[in-house]
Amino acid sequence: MAKTRQRGKTVNDRDPFGLGREERILQSKVREVFTPHQPIDQIGLLFGREKEVQKLVENVNTPGQHVLLFGDRGVGKSSLANVARFILLNNGRRQGFVKRCDSEDTFETIVQAPLRAIGADLQLETVAKGRRRSRDIGVEKGVVARFGRSSEIVETFKASGTLSPSIVAEALQALSGLLVVDEADAIAKPKDKRKLAELIKHLSDNGSPFKIMVVGIAETGDELTAAHPSVERCLKETHLNRMSSDELLEIILNGSEKLELKFTRGASRAIVRLSSGYPYFTHLLSLKCAEEAIAGGYKEISMEDLEFALQAAVEEAEGALKRRYNDGIRSSGTDLYRVILMAAATIGQGEFSAQGLREAITAITGETISQGSLNNYFKRLVSTDGSTVLRRVGKGFYRFEDPRMLSYVRIANAMLEENDEGQGVS
Ligand SMILES: Nc1ncnc2c1ncn2[C@@H]1O[C@H](COP(=O)(O)OP(=O)(O)OP(=O)(O)O)[C@@H](O)[C@H]1O
Ligand SMILES: [Mg+2]
Repeated sequence: MAKTRQRGKTVNDRDPFGLGREERILQSKVREVFTPHQPIDQIGLLFGREKEVQKLVENVNTPGQHVLLFGDRGVGKSSLANVARFILLNNGRRQGFVKRCDSEDTFETIVQAPLRAIGADLQLETVAKGRRRSRDIGVEKGVVARFGRSSEIVETFKASGTLSPSIVAEALQALSGLLVVDEADAIAKPKDKRKLAELIKHLSDNGSPFKIMVVGIAETGDELTAAHPSVERCLKETHLNRMSSDELLEIILNGSEKLELKFTRGASRAIVRLSSGYPYFTHLLSLKCAEEAIAGGYKEISMEDLEFALQAAVEEAEGALKRRYNDGIRSSGTDLYRVILMAAATIGQGEFSAQGLREAITAITGETISQGSLNNYFKRLVSTDGSTVLRRVGKGFYRFEDPRMLSYVRIANAMLEENDEGQGVS
């Protein structure tokens, strides 16, 4: 560790915009190896998850079965779905469709692409036929105007809100295809989730080769199907857990080999520990360490390099995490909001009691804090509507609203453990 490095000095007076640094990083392709901001889309970059891939593939290949893949935010659902889809498309023997949902999506927009693929534009419904009155009667939001033979006659179609699952199932009946409905948790209306579940039921009952994979954040599978009871038999659930330390370590080892870098044992173990099972943080921390090494022209990444990279990782972390954390700790008068979150992060994943939290705070500050005083801080930190860093789950019991926040708090506060230091191995 005796080497002296100019960490963070790759942007200097001679290159104020860091163009040289950026060029070296781009050439190394490090951002294609460590990809915190996008799901994996190559089989070779997906680590662990062998059983889950196998189960998804088996279920989709079984007549009458469809699949539901769910778990916490950021555990790797889209990555797994991507790789399973790739295998299931079987060199073009199935036609693939991916729909990433947002709050505007409805049942109709979800099934649009496969319907189009078979030439069925069931979404268009004639609502008016008449003479063109103005020049700009072209395509408006949600309304499509079509011109007939005479340019004077115009037919107006409207996106129908009443497509029935059984009609869609009939239309797709013979198509050998796979539709991945990702981010299904974002579908705003339960009615649309239920219709999707009904479509799955019809496809299954009809023995159609058209398969659906529903993917989303949920604690239980029925959250994504709006608790449609009769779909359970044909919709096989896969719950995705956080990744193991060995699997996360593989991400670092594989990446460092590709980039011809070496993470010391201490640094790679600390990254794994800080990640708490979330591959997102493993990619983010490894990326920031590797970028600095590539820019600085060194090969070995040590604990000091990791410590330096933590700040860059915090700055680059997902906006929602950053915002919620900063809203929680912002205060001109006291540092205790930050200390409370650090204390919660020392307790670990899952629920904790107010008593346990007070003890953890005392372990950090050396001072006791009364329940009354803690309750005052909780006014900003705790809610039950998802708007704060912590959620009240029961009387006197709490957890982080976003389970990834535990890692973020540790990274933001450089909570590296004493025994993270170690000798170099790779
Ligand atoms: N098995 C894996 N091996 C290596 N990296 C992975 C694996 N699974 C996920 N990742 C990486 O972890 C991060 C999060 O993955 P992904 O986007 O698939 O999670 P997600 O559960 O779909 O997240 P969200 O809940 O936000 O939709 C990405 O950087 C991705 O590249
Ligand atoms: Mg996803």
